[in-house]
Amino acid sequence: MLVDTFGRTATDLRVSLTDRCNLRCSYCMPPEGLDWLPKPELLTDDEVVRLVALGVRELGITEVRFTGGEPLLRRGLAGIVRRTAELAPRPEISLTTNGIGLSRLAGPLADAGLDRVNVSLDTLDRDTFKRLTHRDRHGDVLAGLAAARAAGLEPVKINAVLMRGVNDHEAVPLLRYCLEHGYRLRFIEQMPLDAQHGWVREHMVTADEILDRLAAEFSLEPDAAHERGSAPAETFRVDGGPATVGVIGSVTRPFCGACDRVRLTADGQVRNCLFATEESDLRDALRRGAGDAEVAERWRRAVRGKRAGHGIDDPSFLQPARPMSAIGG
Ligand code: GTP
Ligand code: 5AD
Ligand code: SF4
Repeated sequence: MLVDTFGRTATDLRVSLTDRCNLRCSYCMPPEGLDWLPKPELLTDDEVVRLVALGVRELGITEVRFTGGEPLLRRGLAGIVRRTAELAPRPEISLTTNGIGLSRLAGPLADAGLDRVNVSLDTLDRDTFKRLTHRDRHGDVLAGLAAARAAGLEPVKINAVLMRGVNDHEAVPLLRYCLEHGYRLRFIEQMPLDAQHGWVREHMVTADEILDRLAAEFSLEPDAAHERGSAPAETFRVDGGPATVGVIGSVTRPFCGACDRVRLTADGQVRNCLFATEESDLRDALRRGAGDAEVAERWRRAVRGKRAGHGIDDPSFLQPARPMSAIGG
C-alpha cells in the first residue's frame, strides 16, 4: 500500500503519457508552447506498463487515469490501455483529454478497455475557444465528445475552467449544453500551475461565484449520492435531478485531507501531489535494472513524504517548477 504519514492511502494513479499538446490553453501554457521532453527521456510503453502493473499488483492501486499534456498524442495509448485492462485485479481505467482526436480514437480505446473519459471544454463559442486555446479546433472537441458517448465511454465528464472576462459568462449556457447532451459538467477553480506563472488569486473565479451564477437559473441541492469523499468535485443535483453539476474548488475548498492520488510523469518521476516540489525518479531505477521490490520501495517512500496540503495560501507558497502540462491534471 502507498500510505503517507497523515494516514492517507493513494489508490488512484494518474499517469502522464506525454507533455505535448495540440492546444495552448492560456491557464496552462504560452502560445509558443514549451520545450518538450526529449523522446529518450520518456518512459517507453513497456516501462509505463511495468510501473502500472507494479502499482496494481503490489501497491494497492485500483484506478488508473491516463493524462498528458494530451494523452491522445501518445502513439502507444491503445496498447497501454489494453495491457492495463489485462491486469488482475483489473483497475478502473479513465482518460483526461482535450477531446481532439476522440472522434477517431474513442471506439478503438473503448475496445481496448478504456472505461470513461473526462474532456476539457471551457466555452461553447468558437471564437472564444480560439482566443483561449490559440487553435481553431472547437468543432473537433464537440465531435470528440459525441464520439465518446457513442462509444460508451460513460459517464462523459466535462471540465470547464472559468476565467474572468473570457468565459465566466458561460456558466449557465455550458450547463444547459451538458444537460441537453447528457454530459456531466464540473467547473474548476483555476490553479497556479501555468507555465507562465500568470495566476493571480484575485482574478480567480471562485467556487462560490460559480454556484451563485448557477443558482440564479437552476435549483441546486447537494447530491447525497455523491458524497465528496476523495473526489475533488462537490456535486449538486440540478432542478431535482437526476442530472448533476460539480464544482472543483481546489483553491478555496481544498480536498487535500482526503486525497487518494499519486502521479507518475511521462519521464518516470513519482509526484505525491500536484503541487509537490520534489519528485522521486523511478525511471532511473528501471533503467539501472532494479527489481520490482526496489522500485516498489522507492515508490512507497515517495508517498510517505507527502505534505498535508497544497499550501497555496501559505505566504511561502512556491509554484512547482513543472507546469500542469507536464504533470497531468
Ligand atoms: P474523476 O472524478 O474520477 O472523474 O476524476 P478527476 O476529476 O480527478 O479527474 P480530472 O483529470 O478530470 O481532473 C479534474 C480537475 O480536478 C483537474 O483539472 C484539477 O483541477 C483537479 N484535480 C485533479 N487532481 C487533483 C489533485 O490531486 N489536487 C488538486 N488540488 N486538484 C486536482
Ligand atoms: N487550473 C485548473 N485546472 C487546470 N487544468 C489545466 N490547467 C489548469 C489550471 N491551471 C485542467 C484542464 C483539464 C484538466 C486536466 O486540468 O482544463 O480539464
Ligand atoms: Fe493542452 Fe490540457 Fe494544457 Fe489545454 S490544459 S494546453 S488541453 S495540456
